[in-house]
Amino acid sequence: MKYLSDCLFLFIWILYAPVESTSHGLRRHCDLSTPVCLRKLVQDVVPFFVNGIPERGISSLDPLTVENLNIVLSGGIAIDIHEGFTRGLRKCHVDSARNIDGTHYEVKLSCNLLIKGKYKSKGQLLMFAIDAEGDSTIKCKDLKMTATFELVPITKSDGKQYMKIQDFNSTHDFEGKVNFHLTNLFPGNPEMSEFVLKFLNENWRLVVEEFGGPFIEFGVKSVLNNVERIFDQIPALELAQMFIN
Ligand SMILES: *[C@@H]1O[C@H](CO)[C@@H](O)[C@H](O)[C@H]1NC(C)=O
Repeated sequence: MKYLSDCLFLFIWILYAPVESTSHGLRRHCDLSTPVCLRKLVQDVVPFFVNGIPERGISSLDPLTVENLNIVLSGGIAIDIHEGFTRGLRKCHVDSARNIDGTHYEVKLSCNLLIKGKYKSKGQLLMFAIDAEGDSTIKCKDLKMTATFELVPITKSDGKQYMKIQDFNSTHDFEGKVNFHLTNLFPGNPEMSEFVLKFLNENWRLVVEEFGGPFIEFGVKSVLNNVERIFDQIPALELAQMFIN
């Protein structure tokens, strides 16, 4: 029951904190103005936002389906990912969460992600000319994300209060290793394919710094989209009650 009350209090607190932080008389076992307490609450609600609400058309983020992602990266290399998915968002660890001031928050996460799909790629990848398609598996360990955003209560035409993310920034850092497994990088040339794959893995940091950005952006957009749609569709108090039912 502690979990449920935490979730309920989180939303009530988020709803009223910008207006009045203590005078509404809510009491709980940990002080929500402390980062320790807030971190725990954010950690507790991660699975809810990741699971989405399929009956309201808000799909699950774990796995996050990547039906068709077309990206043109620096140097002009085009990468299409299809029949893909990303796993692991449900288990992201909330490293810290804090109220910066008023309605501004900062949340830091660490995630281990597995990205799988069919790829098709053409162009210059570092010093290699690529024209290939095959299967790809990318493992990303200890990806650190920092999100800062403004969370404001708004009253909609139904007279109810909803939460809205007003402003959002994020940064990321690849702390752990990234491992690539790409089949058929050089069609008909397994030795060269193996050689280039080995090179990419040995130089994974260079690769993710050069090419990782748009993929992270796609992930962040997907997560933000879920959070925004959940906030937009479900009144704040109803959201809190959903954790009780
Ligand atoms: C996002 O970044 C912009 C530009 O640096 C800044 O002005 C804004 O305050 C930031 N917003 C948040 C919520 O951190």
